[in-house]
Amino acid sequence: MTQPARSHEAHVADQFGPQAAAYVASAVHAAGADLDRMAARMREVRPARALDLGCGGGHVAFAIAPESGAVTACDLSPDMLAAVAAEAARRGVSNIATRAGAAEALPFPDASFDAVLTRFSAHHWRDVRAGLAEARRVLKPGAPALFADIVAPDDPLLDTHLQAVELLRDPSHVRDYAVPEWRAMLDAAGFSLDAVTPGRLRMDFASWIARMRSPVPHVAAIRSLQAAAPDAVQRHFGIEADGSFWLDAVLIEARAVAAA
Ligand SMILES: C[S@@+](CC[C@H](N)C(=O)[O-])C[C@H]1O[C@@H](n2cnc3c(N)ncnc32)[C@H](O)[C@@H]1O
Repeated sequence: MTQPARSHEAHVADQFGPQAAAYVASAVHAAGADLDRMAARMREVRPARALDLGCGGGHVAFAIAPESGAVTACDLSPDMLAAVAAEAARRGVSNIATRAGAAEALPFPDASFDAVLTRFSAHHWRDVRAGLAEARRVLKPGAPALFADIVAPDDPLLDTHLQAVELLRDPSHVRDYAVPEWRAMLDAAGFSLDAVTPGRLRMDFASWIARMRSPVPHVAAIRSLQAAAPDAVQRHFGIEADGSFWLDAVLIEARAVAAA
């Protein structure tokens, strides 16, 4: 039976809202070399105002709060923001404020931040180019921007498998971009690139689908795709007997180009 069509943003809020506490607690999200590097970079920059865009459980905000004057944690999902505010109160962190908003239409004035960071969120944005343009708009010229996300391999065979299992797992998935796509989109949005650091993340199948409450028929379809995948796909993603596998990730360090 077909369900009434909803906006992409409603899909995102429905997917993430009820899982807010799981994202705050998620081990995959709560630690990582990318998070450590974000904190180290902010230790150098000492931003008076930093933005964690698509904050989810707030792991970036919490990592950079000790290095920043004030951190704004922004997300589409009010439930995520409530979970971040509760966690900040629990930890006694007083310089994190939450703000609801879409990456594509940020509720902040031009040049209002000294740093923008976003992690594991851009692949959900309805219009990533608009989101990157907004990130550039709210940054001061020359200020740093750090983008961490899952990335697609350059090989179309691998790319298609990745997007297929991602969409089956989570109907709010839009696209894991490949690094050349990131480079072109950041250039078009007015960023210059300083560094691109690749990484790999192991996804435990059971918790990967549980976090998104993937419907049972979708889980079966993912397992079927994995079982039928050609050897190059099996090898690249390191698909294991229980469906656990490895994702490619990247941390891109950039800065806002001053307007000509
Ligand atoms: C996987 S979670 C983010 C994880 C978090 N940043 C971290 O480092 O653990 C993705 C988040 O992006 C948010 N999101 C998705 N699309 C968005 C958009 N267009 N604007 C703002 N937030 C968005 C979702 O609501 C969700 O909380």
